[in-house]
Amino acid sequence: MTDLLDELWSLPVAVTASHRGRDNGLIALTAVPATILPEAPRLTVDLSHGSLTHELALAAGSFVLHLLRSPPDERTLALVRALGLRTGREGDKLAAFESERGVTGAPILRDTLGYFEVRVAATLDLGDMTVVAGDVVASGRLAEGRALRFDELDAHMPPGWLETRRADELAEARRRRGLPQRT
Ligand SMILES: Cc1cc2nc3c(=O)[nH]c(=O)nc-3n(C[C@H](O)[C@H](O)[C@H](O)COP(=O)(O)O)c2cc1C
Repeated sequence: MTDLLDELWSLPVAVTASHRGRDNGLIALTAVPATILPEAPRLTVDLSHGSLTHELALAAGSFVLHLLRSPPDERTLALVRALGLRTGREGDKLAAFESERGVTGAPILRDTLGYFEVRVAATLDLGDMTVVAGDVVASGRLAEGRALRFDELDAHMPPGWLETRRADELAEARRRRGLPQRT
């Protein structure tokens, strides 16, 4: 079943949010379009309860979702390492990356393919994650080309790059869902 579920992961995206002067961001594999109406674009992304980005995005009621560049260059890999493999609770993750502010006030990261500025329209609390649905209020393309896929990203990262961090995240998710821990 895990193999089949892995086929459902979406493109890797960087999600940033800002609230009361605190900026942060993470990497997610759960972003999907959420409407068929091109004139009123919507999307969803699932954010882990424990993440700082979850806290900031829900408090601000907005976030920016970025597609990453393919093939992944050094800046793209640096973004994935910085945003996806540690929490902003341990220090500023975005300081090393060029950004600007758009209409939502959340940072728009320059080293990406493009971005969607999103205002939160609805949330669904699943215990370990929140499904966050939002209206796209602005967007822009920052580079030519296609969006990075997870298999491409994985091929450019060191073997086992996800496992170390994932063990903690899985334990946290099991705790929040009331499931027994595995050894
Ligand atoms: C490939 C990959 C996919 C991820 N997908 C998600 C996701 O869909 N939702 C999520 O909340 N975290 C996801 N994460 C984990 C966060 O990026 C990670 O927990 C991050 O350190 C949270 O940072 P924060 O506490 O600073 O917000 C993913 C990480 C990686 C590397």
